[in-house]
Amino acid sequence: MKICCIGAGYVGGPTMAMIAKQCPDIPVTVVDINQARIDAWNSDKLPVFEPGLDEVVKEARGRNLFFSTEVDEAIREADMIFMSVNTPTKTYGVGAGRAADLKYVELCARRIAEVAESDKIVVEKSTLPVRTAESIRRILAGSGKNLNFQVISNPEFLAEGTAVEDLTAPDRVLIGGEESAEGDKAVQALVDVYAHWVPRERILTTNVWSSELSKLTANAFLAQRISSINAISALCEVTGANVDEVAHAIGRDSRIGPKFLRSSVGFGGSCFQKDILNLVYLCEHFGLPEVAKYWEQVVAMNEHQKRRFVDRMVSTLFNTVSGKKIAILGFAFKKDTNDTRESPAISVCRDLLEEQANLAVYDPKVEPATIRHDLALAEGDERVDICTDPYVAIRGAHAVAILTEWDSFKALDWERIYREMLKPAFVFDGRNILNLSDLRKIGFEAYGIGKGGER
Ligand code: UDX
Ligand code: ADP
Repeated sequence: MKICCIGAGYVGGPTMAMIAKQCPDIPVTVVDINQARIDAWNSDKLPVFEPGLDEVVKEARGRNLFFSTEVDEAIREADMIFMSVNTPTKTYGVGAGRAADLKYVELCARRIAEVAESDKIVVEKSTLPVRTAESIRRILAGSGKNLNFQVISNPEFLAEGTAVEDLTAPDRVLIGGEESAEGDKAVQALVDVYAHWVPRERILTTNVWSSELSKLTANAFLAQRISSINAISALCEVTGANVDEVAHAIGRDSRIGPKFLRSSVGFGGSCFQKDILNLVYLCEHFGLPEVAKYWEQVVAMNEHQKRRFVDRMVSTLFNTVSGKKIAILGFAFKKDTNDTRESPAISVCRDLLEEQANLAVYDPKVEPATIRHDLALAEGDERVDICTDPYVAIRGAHAVAILTEWDSFKALDWERIYREMLKPAFVFDGRNILNLSDLRKIGFEAYGIGKGGER
């Protein structure tokens, strides 16, 4: 058995590294068309920052884990091919702004059809709209070769920042296959891979459509919890209730549970928004406009929360931030990742720039070039200073906004920060990680989502 994975991104890289680590008997080759990315996977500085990932890659790389740009060769040699390419939201044509753009998936399928010389099991790893397997199957069948291609779905449930943990001990692994003898055989081949380290009762098998739809549904439910608590945070701010206390109280109901109830400046990441919009598009496509509207509201609430955060900053800073220096701590969409896709920091910064603020941005892991790209900054744009030291970012600032919950921000010397800022000094904690009453004791005017401010 030989595995190949097309796409060496945040999902393909860590997932294949874990399979290779746990299955030393299976050669795993990860291919990508992006030479720089492959070079990085072969170097000491991996393109993806994840706690614990360096060790996993070091253990398996060169033994049975390989990174390469030789896509065709890897396809030809593999028995099982994972598709882990990007599926961004479509920006053009039918379904623009909502439907998933499947061009990379389709290109991948066409490549497999063209170069394969033996039977293949093709595994959908990227999150895809329900019924994509059907299109992949037709493309593969169109090769005209007398080969058996089985398409199975194995969605990834890892969260960035905890990828290694999630892959080591997953709550469940989901595998969906065609309901036929060949389908069962393909599913079993993948079950055998995961069974190297995942207890059998945690490996769930379903039909392909259930598997594809479960991934979208899981993300929609998780995001819905955040939008629900964020909606309540707005009500807390005007009533004197404290959103942390409310979240804690409702989370103690075992039917609700405590996880994923942290109110915040909004959810980000490559999955939630994209997957919900995808679900919305599917509902509309299948003639279910009310269902579509229901889920669309989860995204609308998220947009509202980000905008509300900026509005509150501006109104607190005496209704103008024009020409003021605002320090932005954190740019990644969550802690322990260098990924900024759909990060709330992007829209908060853009809105503040729109209000003519000057920004000093610090993030411990995000590359300055990424920040510049995300904010669409022209060369030499002086409104945004990207700092490598948080104390430089805050020096002389009117306000600080915390947009990622990095643990290192809790450990900063906040008394020193207060001394070096303009007075009155404001902290807006979009992630609710700091103790606001301690900050107020130092002298800050401190605001957290759903926590009111100094009265
Ligand atoms: C998510 C799913 O958790 C994962 O199972 C799926 O496979 C991919 O999508 P990810 O996007 O990597 O993973 O991160 P996640 O931990 O889910 O966080 C998403 C966003 O929600 C982040 O911006 C995070 O800060 C925010 N969040 C999370 C909150 O605002 N409050 C919470 O209580 C939890
Ligand atoms: P994810 O978070 O889903 O892993 P990424 O964007 O991080 O998404 O990774 C997807 C990777 O897939 C990118 O590195 C991209 O270069 C790669 N890719 C896209 N299309 C192809 C293709 N046809 N062949 C090989 N690699 C591809």
